[in-house]
Amino acid sequence: MSKNIFVTREIPDIGIKILKEKGYTVDVNPKSSIPTQKQIISFLRKKQYDAVLTLLTDKIDKKVFEVAPSVKLYVNYATGFDNIDIAAAKERGIVVANAPADMSSEAVAEHTIALMLCLATRIVEGDKFVRAGKYKGWSPMNFIGTDVAGKTLGLIGTGRIGGRVAKYAKNLGMKILYTDVNRNEQIEKELDATYCDSPDTLLPQVDFVSLHVPLLDSTRHLINEKHLKMMKPTAFLVNTSRGPVVDEKALEFALKNRVIAGAGLDVFEFEPKISSGLKKLQNIVLTPHIASASNETRDQMAEIAANNIVDFFEGRTPRNIVNS
Ligand code: GLV
Repeated sequence: MSKNIFVTREIPDIGIKILKEKGYTVDVNPKSSIPTQKQIISFLRKKQYDAVLTLLTDKIDKKVFEVAPSVKLYVNYATGFDNIDIAAAKERGIVVANAPADMSSEAVAEHTIALMLCLATRIVEGDKFVRAGKYKGWSPMNFIGTDVAGKTLGLIGTGRIGGRVAKYAKNLGMKILYTDVNRNEQIEKELDATYCDSPDTLLPQVDFVSLHVPLLDSTRHLINEKHLKMMKPTAFLVNTSRGPVVDEKALEFALKNRVIAGAGLDVFEFEPKISSGLKKLQNIVLTPHIASASNETRDQMAEIAANNIVDFFEGRTPRNIVNS
């Protein structure tokens, strides 16, 4: 049976093709800018849509649900789904699914390691220096960084992404400490990772901290002034999870005052806004929420999202429901 699907912004063609091959009508918002909630609502008023494919930048809550009662399914083109009020959806019998591509864990883990290595080896600072024409020849004291081999990585969260980061870090010769709501026997056995019962226990012991938790009430500002002060002054923080997991004001203070050595951020507390204070600092590497932006991952995410929609309308349970 024909279905009307609205896609809030362009995604890789492979996903759209899957939906069109099923005979569905697929309307993609033609604008590349992030739509406001008002704009999403005005799109949804135009037609009786059956499903919406959303992005992590779309705020989907009861205001949206109320104007589009025909929509029975929202699929988020992302692993995270903190942009959707899943409880309010459930109350209304609306199904919410995500698109946790396997490749995405791979890409995010690689990006995490890349940020760690950028901080350790000062690649970004060196690049700016060369481009600015400041390089006058080799010097024994230029841009001295640090090795990661022999250092300790502290992982907060060891799900699919954190687990992969642990594996790569181990291959780089790092020792792994982790904390999580559940023990991760696999990384304990395979990577000799050591469990810490809380961030408080882990933070003072490690040289790098990497965050791999979803954004929940319990993880908002998980890294705050108190926790930053617990880290070694030589330690680096990497965040490829969700911006609000870190109290950005406290981080800015900690970086400016060398409470910690540096930070690598792919996500920001008030995304897409980034405080001008953070941008001025030399001991930070910033990327624009691109940790999962590999070709392979983006295509796989589009396939997964589209297949969740197809499964739903063909009477199968979508694999990635997040509010059952
Ligand atoms: C990206 O941040 C995602 O959640 O997929």
